[in-house]
Amino acid sequence: METDLSGRNVLVTGASSGIGRAVARAFAREGANVAVTYRSNAEAAAGLCEEIREAGGDALALEYRLEEPGSGAAVARSVAERWGGLDTLVANAVRWPAEFPDEGRAESLSMETWRGDLRVNLEGTIEVVLAALPLLRRSEAGRIVLTSSGVAEEGVPGPSPYGVAKAALAGFARQLAWDVGRDGVLVNAVAAGFTATERNLAYFDEAVRDEVARHTPTGRLSAPEDVAGLIVYLGSPANRNLSGEVVREGSSTGRGGVRMEWVSSPASAAAH
Ligand SMILES: NC(=O)c1ccc[n+]([C@@H]2O[C@H](COP(=O)([O-])OP(=O)(O)OC[C@H]3O[C@@H](n4cnc5c(N)ncnc54)[C@H](OP(=O)(O)O)[C@@H]3O)[C@@H](O)[C@H]2O)c1
Repeated sequence: METDLSGRNVLVTGASSGIGRAVARAFAREGANVAVTYRSNAEAAAGLCEEIREAGGDALALEYRLEEPGSGAAVARSVAERWGGLDTLVANAVRWPAEFPDEGRAESLSMETWRGDLRVNLEGTIEVVLAALPLLRRSEAGRIVLTSSGVAEEGVPGPSPYGVAKAALAGFARQLAWDVGRDGVLVNAVAAGFTATERNLAYFDEAVRDEVARHTPTGRLSAPEDVAGLIVYLGSPANRNLSGEVVREGSSTGRGGVRMEWVSSPASAAAH
């Protein structure tokens, strides 16, 4: 299996925290050059770039806004200017929903909220993928990994456009695989489960987390590094011919209907 990724150019969106940061670090450990995007936490992205350079690769921190048309294209342009090419795109950034109304109140979300959330998390992600495609097609082994969610298959309490966007991204991966496969570009999605990110540790009570873990085959939640390992595999030449798949990761395989109750205000928190 090929694991040396030196000279490989990788773009990870939403890398200033959580799973994206673990993915960027994991690629860097294998010697890759890594461009990382952030929305608000420039400091975290800059610190991550230092780590990447210390690991021996080049690094680039880029501001990126899913909600802003043209932002994905600008990020792809910056990568092309710096490295002349791109081999792996991990489209991972997310805007968490501002509200999760009670279960069964689909009508409580306005159409404006639905459109806004789908625009950001679905269209925003598609935009950066399309902008990066010309670069990826030129790579000898182009790879795209989208972070979907176990929610795409199981749903989540509350009529969440987040879950709809994640399900649509899984469909996008399956569909895009056919469009780009003949150019050697492999596209997959990872249906991450409830992951022990800093944000989730802050927003979900330990009892809830334990209950979710109890329903997984391994009895534990995935760490961001666990999800990152799978994404690095799918996003590297080690993945030789797997494309168009939605791969469920660790704790997404057994939530089994456990209700996820918030500990504190759900505003800008994560639901999985
Ligand atoms: N954590 C889980 O349990 C879980 C489960 C299933 C799927 N996922 C998926 O995994 C991915 C990463 O989740 P995470 O939990 O690691 O998230 P996270 O820690 O909250 O990180 C989110 C990242 O996205 C960036 N971001 C936020 N709003 C943005 C916007 N409007 N435009 C562009 N970037 C924006 C953030 O940047 P700043 O911090 O700089 O603003 C940050 O880098 C997401 O796609 C999520 O849906 C996560």
